[in-house]
Amino acid sequence: ARLTVIDTDPGIDDAIGILLALASPEFAIAGITTVAGNIGIDTTTRNAGRLLAFAGREGIPVFKGAAAPLSRPGPEPLNLHGEDGIGGVALPDPARLPQSRPAVEWLAELLLEQPSGTVDVLALGPLTNLAQLILDRPEAAKRIGRIVAMGGAIHERGNVGPRSEFNLWADPEAAAAVVRSGLPLVLVPLDVTRRVRATRDFTNELAASGKPVAAMVGGLIEAYFESSTNQESRPLHDPCVMLFALAPDLFRLESLHLSVCTESPEEAGALTVEEAGTAVQVAIAVDAPAVLGLLAGRLTAT
Ligand code: BDR
Ligand code: CA
Repeated sequence: ARLTVIDTDPGIDDAIGILLALASPEFAIAGITTVAGNIGIDTTTRNAGRLLAFAGREGIPVFKGAAAPLSRPGPEPLNLHGEDGIGGVALPDPARLPQSRPAVEWLAELLLEQPSGTVDVLALGPLTNLAQLILDRPEAAKRIGRIVAMGGAIHERGNVGPRSEFNLWADPEAAAAVVRSGLPLVLVPLDVTRRVRATRDFTNELAASGKPVAAMVGGLIEAYFESSTNQESRPLHDPCVMLFALAPDLFRLESLHLSVCTESPEEAGALTVEEAGTAVQVAIAVDAPAVLGLLAGRLTAT
């Protein structure tokens, strides 16, 4: 199993990604670090604890990370996923409080105590924590095995701006620092995540499986439908990060030279493919039926 840290802002699709990771023995989850994004930091941190309590995995520690972007105020939480950030789905209260150590401090220590290259980070939210690690603790950051991050749009339109995707838009300076760092990075943009969609049939199948984790994910997707005008299907953005880590052969990777736009508000977080950019591995296409099958298989197995 790979030693793995999940950096996240749960978030309905974050919650599904976390439950998938918990159901996958390929990941030895060292801890969950949280960030403000879909909703404020206290709520994302609490949600991480609630998901671990639900899964009976409270041995995994939760570390509270950045409450705001690196170098700009806000953005105000969009409350895209309801007032509690996860669509009002019933989850137990965590029995454990989050750890008192700040996320970045813990992550740096973990990276320094483990052999270099053996800790992966699965990033499901704005990239503030990782950017802070890179800027403040470069000696630790360079020991990361690989970052797989959901974010950006290449050929697709954005979801918060014409070319901007939420996670990069929410903290463009952080995203730029992570891309520019040259650390091993796989970006999973909207080009892929918009193709991996839960239909009502998929949701009903999970809900009807009689398996608690699958039923919980069915309920989360149901809540996700309630916040949308598209009643046909919903994109499963963040779980694509775990799915890529589990089955890279089901994705097509391209090495692209990318820059993150931080200037105009219109374009904040937009990616530009240009020679001056940094080489990043980008998941550009996916075998959607196959990854959905993998997801359903994992969720219904326990
Ligand atoms: C990303 O934005 C968030 O709302 C989701 O959790 C996902 O990480 C999709 O653009
Ligand atoms: Ca997220």
